[in-house]
Amino acid sequence: MTSPIALVLDSPGAELLAEWDTNPERHSMSAFELNAALRTQGASAEVAAAVITQCELRDRAEAKLGPLARRLLFTRDGIEQATRLAVATAHAQRFAASGAHTIADLGCGNGGDSLTFLLAGLNVLAVDIDPDAAAAARWNLQAVAATLPTPPDATVIEADVTIMDVPGLAAQGVDAIFADPARRTGAAKGSARILSPEQWSPSLPTVLSWRASYERIGIKLAPGIDHTDLPADCHAQWASVDGNLVEAALWTPALAPEGAGRSALVLRGETTHVLTDPQIHEATAPVPQAPTGALGAMIAEPDPAVIRSGTVRALAEELGAHLISDKIAYLSGDTLPSTPFAARFEVCEVVALRPKAITAALRAMDVGQVEVKKRGADLDPAALRSALKLSGSQEATVIATRIAGRHRAIIARRVRD
Ligand SMILES: C[S@@+](CC[C@H](N)C(=O)[O-])C[C@H]1O[C@@H](n2cnc3c(N)ncnc32)[C@H](O)[C@@H]1O
Repeated sequence: MTSPIALVLDSPGAELLAEWDTNPERHSMSAFELNAALRTQGASAEVAAAVITQCELRDRAEAKLGPLARRLLFTRDGIEQATRLAVATAHAQRFAASGAHTIADLGCGNGGDSLTFLLAGLNVLAVDIDPDAAAAARWNLQAVAATLPTPPDATVIEADVTIMDVPGLAAQGVDAIFADPARRTGAAKGSARILSPEQWSPSLPTVLSWRASYERIGIKLAPGIDHTDLPADCHAQWASVDGNLVEAALWTPALAPEGAGRSALVLRGETTHVLTDPQIHEATAPVPQAPTGALGAMIAEPDPAVIRSGTVRALAEELGAHLISDKIAYLSGDTLPSTPFAARFEVCEVVALRPKAITAALRAMDVGQVEVKKRGADLDPAALRSALKLSGSQEATVIATRIAGRHRAIIARRVRD
């Protein structure tokens, strides 16, 4: 059977995709109606299905890659695994700023990172073991190159990077390596996460072994990676986009002007913010502890990139805040300045962590809508929310946590920045 990507690379699939992808009528048609329209235009059943799939994948990819997605081709796994455009652009800027000229993207998927390398002016050698992913990446890099007045070189090859002569690529001018290892079993196998870095493809030790030949190596990591699995002399950065943790990445010293350690990269809208802790000098350093103190008039929930990178102490210092319980990442103080690194709440009341007590407090505030947050309390937020019988017109946040060793519900109002 011809692959769905191959079916939209050439005539008539490519033309039908270009026509229907941009046709606004498509959005009011069912897949059945779209299929019928494509078949009337002479498309085979296979081509019609491939065009419909590609239109849907582009719709989904737009959330990660923006309007550029409408020029690109995707595999199903490729979209799930693609780096968000804003984060990939930050990767590319790191390589460009280091003086790199030619980057090998080893395990390029559909080319989500490679295309930003190209846009940053780097020559790209992109490699993937999967023929469909490589075909999509080839198309995508050509589509991006076509938008540039003097595009850098872009080559895509289908190969297994674990048996490839990666050190030998230096003879072809490669002076930087990027790897975003596959960390899932794949859609066909239920797409489970592979936790052990030794089991990723390529594995973390394999990518790090290329340090013998290249100074500039960047590796995308699972955000849950243990700090002790990292090479101490590198810089690891956890990234979030609009409050959602999306990845961690590891940079060898030549790509890390900030030095060895860990940091949080927080992207909000079009703006990028970085938080480092001067007390963290190695990627493996223990998480510095923030001071603890009493609950004040405000409480802040650090961004997940701050929590995972272990930079909560630095944030506490920046905000003039303290933890309310040792090792639980809620910060408090009587006044907390606005920050991109945390969501802020005004504390209204503290009650026992029991539905009856929480309901009574919320009813007295005329609250009908609640968001439930928890840290240091073992409960199901959805179950707690449904146990609260509310009918008011106001909104509030219930923060389930521990204060002075006891489980408590903090009733709070979110500060909208
Ligand atoms: C997480 S995806 C890369 C996504 C890409 N960075 C992006 O933003 O679009 C990992 C890719 O590595 C490829 N891969 C896994 N093992 C490989 C190997 N041994 N050789 C080459 N590619 C491999 C997979 O086929 C998959 O496309």
